[in-house]
Amino acid sequence: MTNTTSQDRQHGEEQTFEPSAEFAAQANATAALYDEAAADRLGFWAEQARELISWDTDFTDTLDWSDPPFARWFVGGKLNVAYNCVDRHVEAGHGDRVAIHFEGEPGDTRTITYADLQREVSRAANALAALGVVQGDRVAIYLPMIPEAVISMLACARLGAAHSVVFGGFSSDALRSRILDVQAKVVITADGGYRRGKPSALKPAVDEALAGGDTPVEKVLVVERTGEDVAFDAERDLHWAEALAAQPDTHEYESFDSENPLFVLYTSGTTGKPKGILHTSGGYITQNAFAMRTVFDIKPETDVFWCTADVGWVTGHSYVAYGPLAAGATQVMYEGTPDTPHRGRWWEIVAKHGVTILYAAPTAIRTAMKWGDEIPAEHDLSSLRLLGSVGEPINPEAWMWYRRVIGGDRCPIVDTWWQTETGAHMIAPLPGVIATKPGSSQRALPGISVAVVDDTGEPVERNVAGYLVITEPWPAMLRGIYGDPERFKDTYWSRFENMYFAGDGARYDDDGDIWFLGRVDDVMNVSGHRLSTAEIESALVSHEAVAEAAVVGAQDETSGQAVVAFVILRGGEEQTEGTVEELRAHVGREIGPIAKPKRVHIVEELPKTRSGKIMRRLLKDVADNRLVGDATTLADSSVMDVISASVAGEK
Ligand code: WTA
Repeated sequence: MTNTTSQDRQHGEEQTFEPSAEFAAQANATAALYDEAAADRLGFWAEQARELISWDTDFTDTLDWSDPPFARWFVGGKLNVAYNCVDRHVEAGHGDRVAIHFEGEPGDTRTITYADLQREVSRAANALAALGVVQGDRVAIYLPMIPEAVISMLACARLGAAHSVVFGGFSSDALRSRILDVQAKVVITADGGYRRGKPSALKPAVDEALAGGDTPVEKVLVVERTGEDVAFDAERDLHWAEALAAQPDTHEYESFDSENPLFVLYTSGTTGKPKGILHTSGGYITQNAFAMRTVFDIKPETDVFWCTADVGWVTGHSYVAYGPLAAGATQVMYEGTPDTPHRGRWWEIVAKHGVTILYAAPTAIRTAMKWGDEIPAEHDLSSLRLLGSVGEPINPEAWMWYRRVIGGDRCPIVDTWWQTETGAHMIAPLPGVIATKPGSSQRALPGISVAVVDDTGEPVERNVAGYLVITEPWPAMLRGIYGDPERFKDTYWSRFENMYFAGDGARYDDDGDIWFLGRVDDVMNVSGHRLSTAEIESALVSHEAVAEAAVVGAQDETSGQAVVAFVILRGGEEQTEGTVEELRAHVGREIGPIAKPKRVHIVEELPKTRSGKIMRRLLKDVADNRLVGDATTLADSSVMDVISASVAGEK
């Protein structure tokens, strides 16, 4: 059953939605912001930094771009990011304001005020300091979506140590390689979390990742969440609750340089090895506080903000941990899946807490759409006033459904384009100012300069596909790839001169609005999660039965893309009934369940050019059920016929 009305389908790029007079009248953003930023971009950002953030020492220069692409923002400024997210709101008299309404998947709840958060973060910072964590250290965080995740991140920030959050859905291998790359001294984890109605263990993966004792990890802090039995190493492991209880609930913070590392977050690239994206303090927090104010129109006294992303992804870093708290807002944090214990769970939470701003991924919106209008209709969604979308292009049909069924035709939708690397929103309509358009992220935010260019770096004409580039440095930009400055230059700054290459295809429409066309590299986007074809291929070939593998992202109605693998077995290996399932499980163990191929096709050959390069484009045609494109550059042009026939034979 699909529940889209013909009205949802018809609307396309010709239609725009003016903000209501009521919304526009109260909006934080104004059209003048674009002019101000255009007139003096650096002056504009300096003003935002001073207005939105508390500095212990003012900065002397806004930007040092003397050694591109290595930027320094708000040079000479000193601040403490955790102070900005917590203490200053308490000092301003808002200690009783709820910072986090936590909803556990099994139905348990917690209400954490800013004063509570200040005490918890202080205790956690003291506990980490007692374990020897100091400025410049790295701490790995491998937790479910529970308040301790945010508390841990802020405790690191408070000490000037960088955190590296590893998504709880990643495997022990993935965790281990990140711990080694970032050289983490401490790991913060939990016994487990709740997922789809059941406890799902985390601690055993940490034990596996650290087995052998050859990592720099000295201590593991373990939050008790599920109460399930887990192994405990008396030398290495500590109970979070005990470690915190032993500490005072106050902590004197130090101020750190604006460029002090705040976190390293790993993301998939075009090679098999994930990149540790490095973010620093002053610019990151400024641009996110700006996004909260203008893109999310946040009114900290009255709004209830809910970003549904996991803290394991950048969206959870910027719009669960840092942005809402820097803004002094009240937010909802939900541990589990949207359909546990029933498919109305999200809408029940919106109604319960009177959520006013909801930020979710198109894949979740399409899933809700598939489940049917009657499910959200059972809940009172009238508190909502603004909706956001992130992670992948949102098709106009899903956009219209989101607007009509969830937003009651009254809420502006902000389709926010950004990346782990950009740290904060880059392209989105300013609500209350811009008439929104289904399917388009529209235009760069004030103070952000982007272009869509052709192969030679020249701006494309309207309605011509090109590459999205960022033409000027921005405050929340990545400062590099952890430990690999050359890769940083090669990946982002070598494709075009003096421009940041985002890896996304895009075009301008007749109004000059930007439409995203998906990735132009070998990065897939599955349910808004970035996965690398190369990483999954190397996981597959690490299986003893596999000789060669090629992975493509096939079109998928719900998840945007789906992982489809083409695999050649080693000589002597027979395909049995269990082969495909075994290979899927193997990828799950190597990387994590999110990377498991939806389909695995066992083939005799892969399409290769004369120089031996696999032509994934042709495999994508097969996966998408399309007529196979031009195969004339293949070394053996009959290969595609064989593959198509064999895939067709499986159906
Ligand atoms: C894609 C997530 C179209 C894009 C914040 C980008 C989008 C990648 C949008 C980054 C959007 C994100 N419209 N595409 N609104 N938002 N993307 O690093 O391909 O997990 O390069 O950051 O997601 O994914 P990442």
